[in-house]
This record gives sequence, C-alpha cells and structure tokens, in this order.
Amino acid sequence: MTTQEKENLIQKRRIKAGRSWTFLSEYLRRPGTIGAIAPSSRHLAEEIVSQANVVNAQVIVEYGAGTGSFTEVILKRKPEKTSFYAIEQNDRLCAILRQRFPDAHIIAGSVENAGKLLAINYHVHACSIVSGLPWASFSEGLQDRILASTLEILKPGGRFVTFMYLQSLVLPSSQRFRKKIQALFSKVHTSRTIWRNLPPAFVYCCTK
Ligand SMILES: C[S@@+](CC[C@H](N)C(=O)[O-])C[C@H]1O[C@@H](n2cnc3c(N)ncnc32)[C@H](O)[C@@H]1O
Repeated sequence: MTTQEKENLIQKRRIKAGRSWTFLSEYLRRPGTIGAIAPSSRHLAEEIVSQANVVNAQVIVEYGAGTGSFTEVILKRKPEKTSFYAIEQNDRLCAILRQRFPDAHIIAGSVENAGKLLAINYHVHACSIVSGLPWASFSEGLQDRILASTLEILKPGGRFVTFMYLQSLVLPSSQRFRKKIQALFSKVHTSRTIWRNLPPAFVYCCTK
C-alpha cells in the first residue's frame, strides 16, 4: 500500500468514527427514537438491501436512514434510473446524510407522514421500502400510524423490509409488531440471524 493510500484509509476511518460518535450522542439524547448505540453493520445492510429486491424497483424509499449504512448499499445496488428517497427525522443525522450523499433526495420529517411527504410532494409510490426504524421502542399508536402510511405509499406486490434486534424479541412491543405485519401483509419472510451486527439482528421481508 502506498503512503497516499494509507493516508486515505486513515482519513476514511476518521470520518466513519465521527459519524458513529454523532450517532451515539444522538442515541444518548433520544434513546427511544434512535434505538441503537451504533449504526448498522455492512453485513446487516447487505442482507436488508438484498431482501428489498432493489435491482427491480423503480422507486425505493428508506425510513430512518440515520448516518446512511443502508443508504450507501442501496445507492450502489439500485439501477441508475431508479428514484430514491430517504426520510429521516433527526436534523443532525439529516445533515450527515446530505453531506455524504449530495445527489440523493433526503427528506427531513417523520415517516408517519410518508404519504404526504412522497405522494403529495413527489407524486410517487414505492416499489420497495427499506426501514431502519427501531420498532421495539415505539408505542402501539406510532407503530400503527407508520404501518398505515407504509401501506398507503407501497404499490401492490411491493416489498417492505425491516430489521429487529434479536434481543428485542422478548419485548411485548416487538411481538405486537410481528403480529401486525403478519396481519397486514400477504407474505412475511424472516431471514437468518445476522450475528455480525451490534446487536445481532434479523430481517422481516413483507410483501403487500
Ligand atoms: C436504529 S437507527 C438506524 C439508522 C440506520 N438506518 C442504520 O441502520 O444504521 C433508527 C433511525 O430511525 C430514525 N427515526 C426514528 N423514528 C423516525 C420517524 N418517525 N421518522 C423518520 N425517522 C425516524 C432515527 O432518527 C434513527 O436515525
């Protein structure tokens, strides 16, 4: 490795560490909306994006993009013509996303209003929705409102993919969420466990 390559690598690691630090400090300020101490790993990102079938989607929407762990993989895998919209409600994380992905549509707001944010402002419906939301931390009312918006913007036959942390399975909020998606979607597939994530997680792939 040349000196320049080594310097580039060190610089990349510094930037990544800065993002992780912002993520952690936002978690400490708002644990219930961030839901994790660290951004998702590349392994979880690869799994969730492959389940979302982004290569065949014309419109992809991401919920709770955070610092962009899933965004990076979606933008790499999606066809050039496919439209992409990320909705993130945390202002500091939105700023990181805009700096990291200057060409992407980063929408500041709550996914509870996804219908309004997308259908009204951009006149689009999604073929694939990739969610990074911490469902286990959400109240039943919030889960219901977000799932209602999801069904509103997702095309028939479209996919809604989301992850759960393994340890959260014991929580009533998590079990309630699973029952809701099983009742609302025609098919729900559960992935293998992704151990190389902090904490380990798995993916639900739901088809409308
Ligand atoms: C567990 S973090 C995941 C971040 C990123 N997708 C990842 O995997 O590293 C959850 C993210 O969802 C965002 N979020 C929580 N509730 C939201 C809402 N109602 N609307 C939009 N974003 C929300 C948080 O601000 C946070 O960035």
